[in-house]
Amino acid sequence: MNITVTQGGIVEQSAAALVVNHFEGLQSPGGATRALDSKLGGAIRAFIASGDFKGKLGETAVLYPHGEILATRVIVVGLGRSDEFSLDRARQAAGAAAAKAVGLGCRSMATVVHGAGAGGLPPRSAAQAVAEGSELGAYQFGEYKSKSPSKVLSNVALIEMDAEKVAEMEAGAHEGQVLGECANFARDLVNQPPNVCTPSYLAAKAEQIAAAFGLKSKVFGVSHMRELGMGALLGVAEGSREAPQFIVLEYWPGATQIGSRAPVVLVGKGITFDTGGYSIKQANDMPEMKSDMAGGAAVLGAVRAAAMLNLPLPVVGLVPACENMINGNAYRPADILTALNGKTIEITNTDAEGRLILADALVYAKQYNPEAVIDMATLTGAAMIALGRGGAAAVFSEHEPLQQRIVEAAESSGERVWPLPLYPDYREWMNSDVADIKNSAGDRYAGVGASAAFLREFAEGYPWAHIDIAPMAYAVAGQKVKPYGLGATGFGVRLMATLLKGWE
Ligand code: BES
Ligand code: MN
Ligand code: ZN
Repeated sequence: MNITVTQGGIVEQSAAALVVNHFEGLQSPGGATRALDSKLGGAIRAFIASGDFKGKLGETAVLYPHGEILATRVIVVGLGRSDEFSLDRARQAAGAAAAKAVGLGCRSMATVVHGAGAGGLPPRSAAQAVAEGSELGAYQFGEYKSKSPSKVLSNVALIEMDAEKVAEMEAGAHEGQVLGECANFARDLVNQPPNVCTPSYLAAKAEQIAAAFGLKSKVFGVSHMRELGMGALLGVAEGSREAPQFIVLEYWPGATQIGSRAPVVLVGKGITFDTGGYSIKQANDMPEMKSDMAGGAAVLGAVRAAAMLNLPLPVVGLVPACENMINGNAYRPADILTALNGKTIEITNTDAEGRLILADALVYAKQYNPEAVIDMATLTGAAMIALGRGGAAAVFSEHEPLQQRIVEAAESSGERVWPLPLYPDYREWMNSDVADIKNSAGDRYAGVGASAAFLREFAEGYPWAHIDIAPMAYAVAGQKVKPYGLGATGFGVRLMATLLKGWE
């Protein structure tokens, strides 16, 4: 998508669709919407007065001018109530307008910068939000439809009257575009069917990113993992015909010599399909498990964004990738695996596989002497029970400043997280009679806390945070909160990119 900022009035623009906005509860339109309304002889005012259009957040209405303006159609998007307005609402409104434009087959759209006028948002962040929202809202995954849509929304112009705001808006729009595009990159990986998105597919994608943006990538196969001693990851991978891959993607900023500064390490769960293994899942729960590599996809997307934004901070992405399947060689409940740090793990549930592959990756992360390690994983159904689908991701950390950074990045990116406790008791629940630890506590209570306590055993020697993104990674039909549509959300890319952007 080509995103530009143009100085001028919205009324004069020629595009397949003009986008203006309206606050819920306002009797008559204001700002750019008012100017357009006068030009259209009060058409917008009339349908607001009719009560057919309320201006609820994301609500849209379409008008067809009779030659009064150059544009073919006008989309009015609701911003919700003005006292509830926020940067994220500007982003969501832009997303709704872009989705509407895509639905109407528009190739171009000229939009006001929601919130930069009456909303009182800084021009730069408002433009970022509108660019980002447009990318996210226009996203479609149509690769496997024989009749794929021929028209795509390829041009979005942000229109601003005040010439003094244009430069700031251009900078914001660029960042928003990068973040939106990198989130969509992750969404593509997650939406791919699991027979296509295999561990080797993820590894190839990481190598493509490295080649395109000048990063360093390394991919370890079984033999290298065996030499290193990644027994937990190898154990999970045993039941699959697909070879496991340990993916490393390193971004060292231009001036920095490799290793001269401590990086932030991002670790992402890369289970390309989770059947549960011998502790098999219910048939109905299984198809969604193609999204069990969403943490890994978010890590690749975030490192890509760091490189595209030329951030001054080195960032390393680690993605342990494999399938959790069943065959004659698959790992069993009661098996004992040895992780990279030598700790032994009694398998009590083969469906608690994510923490096993993360364990080896978290141990591996230590060799970077990282400034911080953050892992993202669709780790537990319990996180979803606690916070709700589309509610928030669960964040765990014993490092208060790191947790604070993540919470702040969540507030500005709109990708919500909520802190949960890491009580030492949770660890006791996984005491094993035969090994150092069990991989599952055995009942469903505090399942999300127990999984974090398990990971803590392997995240030693650096500031660490764990983010369980299961509630946020994949939007399903029945769910109430899904601002940018169904399927993969790309959750974590914008959160991490925002965090890294503001690191110093
Ligand atoms: N990938 C699942 C968690 C999940 C479930 C993510 C639903 C998204 C939607 C994970 O591997 C898993 O199966 N977790 C188990 C852990 C249990 C066996 C301790 C769970 O949550 O039931
Ligand atoms: Mn599982
Ligand atoms: Zn899983």
